[in-house]
Amino acid sequence: LCDTILSAVYLSSRCTFFLSPSMDVDMWHHPATQANIKQLQGYGNQLIPVGTGELASGLEGEGRLAEPEAIVAHLEAFFQREQDLQGKHFLITAGPTHEPIDPVRFIGNRSSGKMGVALAEAIIARGGTVQLILGPSALSPAAPGLEVIRVETAQEMYEVALAAFPETDVAILAAAVADYRPDKAADQKIKKTGDTLSLTLVKNPDIAATLGERKQAGQLVVGFALETTNAEANARDKLRRKQLDLIVLNSLAEAGAGFAHDTNKITIFARDNKARHFELKSKTKVAFDILDTLVEYLD
Ligand code: PMT
Repeated sequence: LCDTILSAVYLSSRCTFFLSPSMDVDMWHHPATQANIKQLQGYGNQLIPVGTGELASGLEGEGRLAEPEAIVAHLEAFFQREQDLQGKHFLITAGPTHEPIDPVRFIGNRSSGKMGVALAEAIIARGGTVQLILGPSALSPAAPGLEVIRVETAQEMYEVALAAFPETDVAILAAAVADYRPDKAADQKIKKTGDTLSLTLVKNPDIAATLGERKQAGQLVVGFALETTNAEANARDKLRRKQLDLIVLNSLAEAGAGFAHDTNKITIFARDNKARHFELKSKTKVAFDILDTLVEYLD
């Protein structure tokens, strides 16, 4: 009966519907669910992204009902949004990179991809288009106007970013990219032999610095700085060295900030030396703060 009433309300209505799904991780990732979500979005319905964490089944993963704060932020963004990013094309890097040691092991980091995905969704809500270059992440973002390119290593992320950059108005580099990779990934699983194992690491290309060097008039490059000590000095140094327009500092010394949390606490430093400090808030709201700041520097 409920389904019948719901279908009757939905099919006869002319307003926007918001979907806030909640289900177990395997149900959420099932191709049938993902295809249905895409179809519903294709009809103009708005998806409020699912949360990640402990589920009713006891499993961990994607599928939790979004936190009330995230639902409210999404609705506020929808109803207050100006389409101020219409016609602007964004490139975003997000998530970790995995640098293979052998067919079994890799060097990685704790980035979940949440910050970059929140940025991509906020840009789309404000009328922009996005190419999201996403490292190995458990998230499966989907929204109209969002192109997701999956990569594994820093080198792959670098190549995709460089190829896409000429068509980009704003690049936002939220990925946690490995600075070094093993000089050679072993073809076979490395066997346990002596008490120690030495790996030779070689430097990865720096995506932010390369885009900063190549940017043309009218293009903006926005970096992130993830720091544990001397946060402000290190962030300002990266802003200058990588020729960025803005840098978003998040410090692991702040509770609830940085990796994996649904929240973040940021300070934005600009090339004109201005600093903007923000409170701890959901990554969705943080994404809107970053966009509000960068529109001041567009054009
Ligand atoms: O993904 P989440 O779990 O939501 O976490 C979000 C985050 C903490 C990963 C994100 O907010 C963040 O801080 N990303 C940048 C992390 C980082 O690698 O910072 P960094 O200070 O080492 O690098 C500075 C900048 O250079 C960053 O924009 C980084 O993307 C970029 N970089 C670094 C190295 C490299 N080889 N290429 C790059 O483009």
